[in-house]
Amino acid sequence: MVDPEKEKAMEEITFKSDTVLSDVHLNTPNKRHLMVRLNTVGQPVFLSQFKLLWNKVSCKDTHVKDKKQKDIQIENTVLDDRSIQESYGKNSNGIDFLNKNETQTCSSMRIEALLDNDGDLEVVRRPRLFSETKQKEPSRNKTHPKVLSQGAENRNEEQENIHHNMVKIEHTMATPLEDVGKQVWRGAFLLADYILFQCDLFKNCTVLELGAGTGIASIITATIAKTVYCTDVGEDLLTMCERNVALNRNLTATRGGAVKVKELDWLKDDLCTDPQVPFSWSEEEISDLYAHTTILMAADVFYDDDLTDALFKTLYRITHNLKNACTIYLSIEKRLNFTLRHLDITCEAYNHFRFSLNDLEKFRDGKMKFIVEPIEATFPQFLVYERIEQLELWKIVATPIS
Ligand SMILES: C[S@@+](CC[C@H](N)C(=O)[O-])C[C@H]1O[C@@H](n2cnc3c(N)ncnc32)[C@H](O)[C@@H]1O
Repeated sequence: MVDPEKEKAMEEITFKSDTVLSDVHLNTPNKRHLMVRLNTVGQPVFLSQFKLLWNKVSCKDTHVKDKKQKDIQIENTVLDDRSIQESYGKNSNGIDFLNKNETQTCSSMRIEALLDNDGDLEVVRRPRLFSETKQKEPSRNKTHPKVLSQGAENRNEEQENIHHNMVKIEHTMATPLEDVGKQVWRGAFLLADYILFQCDLFKNCTVLELGAGTGIASIITATIAKTVYCTDVGEDLLTMCERNVALNRNLTATRGGAVKVKELDWLKDDLCTDPQVPFSWSEEEISDLYAHTTILMAADVFYDDDLTDALFKTLYRITHNLKNACTIYLSIEKRLNFTLRHLDITCEAYNHFRFSLNDLEKFRDGKMKFIVEPIEATFPQFLVYERIEQLELWKIVATPIS
């Protein structure tokens, strides 16, 4: 029997003044229907699934990418469920891509995907490119995750997940600021898109994600990389994250590697090795982390200046402990607000992030050199979300000075 208290909590999603809601979860239809349980702190948990629009060129050599980029952008349209079912195939790595038949030409495949059962043309929308959004004010296109329901329908969805590359994520909605990691943020999608596009850079690598939240970017990375250390803070968040890793094992185990959910608090200097503490590190894991990690990444973690400082200190500390040079990928969403202090529309958290990047690049300790560069967000979308102009991706190459 359902506890009446819990039932009441599940029916009421209260938006208080101190709660934040990720745009990813806006306009999610039929919210009550989608809740799966309450977490240990009484927050309603939802189960959403996010389609991976795998692409034929996603795992090809970088040299052919530029040549094919135009094609990819045309092919990688946002398709409805039916057209996606029709147009999936497998590439040599066993990875599904948007093509029904290996022998079909791209153009015939595209036309087929655009026709409905009666042969009527279905108009699909190509994700906007960064350069286009600059030219004219974009109209807001609303997207929402596909959300699973409970019971028999859920089992059907599970089958669909196996066949059609759905990432299933448990998350909450409308959390207080300290629980933002329990929601999915657009920055994670931007980072995941880049990883799927540049997957040859991530193949067989050891990757460390900081502030991973629900774990969605780590899970997607693990379809390519060898080991992903997926880190954050807080036992209930990490428990949710570990559950998400388990929910998606079909995607990661067959294609890539392992996701290890661990606690890594930017406000602490050391990794916890106490075996009594959940999500602590073993000595072997720490050795593996420092010996093999070549990629660090973090999505949408710059919203509080003190935390930004702590994150940059953590990046500095970890890169100094790594045996090899590494590349750091950081995504950020510039959230603009009008402030009385500036009498203008500004994003102070973004400005602080840019100052921190500058400081890191100027920093000289004779041990490590950091080179910072923006990555233009013109790569194709493998996930359905609104790639707004305010989403940015940054790359930092950290090289030891010998
Ligand atoms: C806006 S969420 C982004 C979550 C996820 N990367 C995404 O894009 O969906 C920010 C994340 O930073 C994490 N975080 C905040 N303070 C932290 C700290 N001191 N150490 C580690 N992670 C922290 C939060 O727990 C949360 O998961």
